[in-house]
Amino acid sequence: MAVVRAARDEDAEAIADICARGYRRTYPALLSSAFIERMIAEFYQVERVSKEVPAAPPGWLGYQVAEEDGRVLGAAGGGLLRPGVGELFVLYLDPDERGRGLGTLLLDRVTGQLRELGATEMWVAALDGNELGIPFYEARGFRKVERRRTYGSTEADNAWSWRFSRPI
Ligand SMILES: CC(C)(COP(=O)(O)OP(=O)(O)OC[C@H]1O[C@@H](n2cnc3c(N)ncnc32)[C@H](O)[C@@H]1OP(=O)(O)O)[C@@H](O)C(=O)NCCC(=O)NCCS
Repeated sequence: MAVVRAARDEDAEAIADICARGYRRTYPALLSSAFIERMIAEFYQVERVSKEVPAAPPGWLGYQVAEEDGRVLGAAGGGLLRPGVGELFVLYLDPDERGRGLGTLLLDRVTGQLRELGATEMWVAALDGNELGIPFYEARGFRKVERRRTYGSTEADNAWSWRFSRPI
């Protein structure tokens, strides 16, 4: 059975690997490989993930992982944007483990962390056209609010993201 827990230092490599593979599997039709590799190099190198394993509240509540039989199969993290308002900043699974509830476990975990800090509203951004992510958020009560240029993208990348929100 899968469990969800706060990540530990020794999980950094698995988290970086899952996020990088998840990223490469999710966006090839939507983003250039140069952009994909730039984002992975910025956010999902082991060194950076290691630094972000611990929480730095209220803005970052630390990586959370889903683990089964001693293997890390998914990672997520969120934090408060401002009092009362939280965001899920990252959520990826091992691409072979989608569709059996692990994403929901991780989402529930981060939602609980945000509620504990007093959040009543939760946001998440997903790339416009991300059919592996958007239907999941919509199934969990998030609604599209605004479309914005994707964080970290330039005009040449022409990448757009939806920002979704739901009450929590
Ligand atoms: C998004 C993601 C984390 C969801 O995790 P998951 O374990 O696959 O999802 P779960 O099994 O917990 O829940 C799936 C729910 O979403 C719904 N859903 C609908 N379309 C879906 C789709 N294309 N993909 C996943 N779920 C979908 C399912 O019906 C289910 O709802 P239900 O239980 O009410 O029927 C995972 O699929 C993933 O890693 N996707 C690729 C990476 C990604 O896009 N991450 C988000 C970046 S913003």
